[in-house]
Amino acid sequence: MVESIDQIRAAALKEIDTATTVDAVQDINTRYLGRKGLMTQALRAVSQLPADDRPAAGRKANEVKQAIAAACLAALERIERDGADQSAGIDVSLPGRKTAPGSRHPITLITTRICDIFTRMGFEVVEGPEVESDYYNFEALNIPKDHPARDMQDTFYVSDDIVLRTHTSPTQPRVMEKRQPPVRIIAPGKVYRCDSDITHTPMFHQVEGLLVDENVSFGDLKGTLTSFVHQMFDTQTRVRFRPSFFPFTEPSAEVDILCVICRGKGCRVCSQTGWLEILGSGMVHPAVLENVGYDTARYTGFAFGMGVERIAMLKYGIDDIRRYYENDIRFLRQF
Ligand code: PHE
Repeated sequence: MVESIDQIRAAALKEIDTATTVDAVQDINTRYLGRKGLMTQALRAVSQLPADDRPAAGRKANEVKQAIAAACLAALERIERDGADQSAGIDVSLPGRKTAPGSRHPITLITTRICDIFTRMGFEVVEGPEVESDYYNFEALNIPKDHPARDMQDTFYVSDDIVLRTHTSPTQPRVMEKRQPPVRIIAPGKVYRCDSDITHTPMFHQVEGLLVDENVSFGDLKGTLTSFVHQMFDTQTRVRFRPSFFPFTEPSAEVDILCVICRGKGCRVCSQTGWLEILGSGMVHPAVLENVGYDTARYTGFAFGMGVERIAMLKYGIDDIRRYYENDIRFLRQF
């Protein structure tokens, strides 16, 4: 008797364990605990036992009955939980959703390209702070306080002595102060000017270049920058050096390339001149070398600074500088 009750319990729990629907559990419940169920019959059988055996067998049968009832209840809860997951809408047979990978910003792409070209020519990439002292941004570069040359760059002043750098040129004295020639560096980064229209944004990017050594001539400047233009655009791109002025270079030259849009015929992009200005350059002014303690009888150098937005516009045919910073995904996706 006791043995067969244990068998009933084992069989019932096994069935309950594998039941996956409410109906199945209810059916089990009826078959074991119902009026004609196996446990009901077993309990009835207890009353037929000799008086001495009855109490133990009765207790046992009641225990098993309760265990089966509890297992049925737990199974119903489990089924309800699983069902809730399904109604939350997870369809495991659906294909996954793709996350769109981002792409590099055109300014990053062009900056990297410029740095790659100069790195191959032996220049080292360095960086300087965007919040800069008046000294490095101006004075060390031969632009004294109250000098009219300060008007060339509309400056954001943080305080009397601190500015948002207006160009990447302050990296020149910063590097030279710490090293002896030969110095061969390029310095990419953000610069700030109080300016905003179709061709100007208050923040833009430059790449500075500086080379100081013995016997550096204007010929080296021309050769280096011409090679850069040929690598950046193509070897057919003509280059023009036009006399200019910067307080920190002497002589100074602006570099133009033959308009990549009209090839020199004259168009809207080049304002009908056939040429496009891409950078400022010159031989490092002796005053700048003296400010960092270099021997000007022994060393000469050249420097240049180019606008990355400008070069990216020409490379990709973008006609409004503000596009770079509108974060319009349709624009950015093209690169
Ligand atoms: N710093 C200058 C500018 O922003 C560019 C320049 C750099 C010119 C180095 C000469 C030498 O306009």
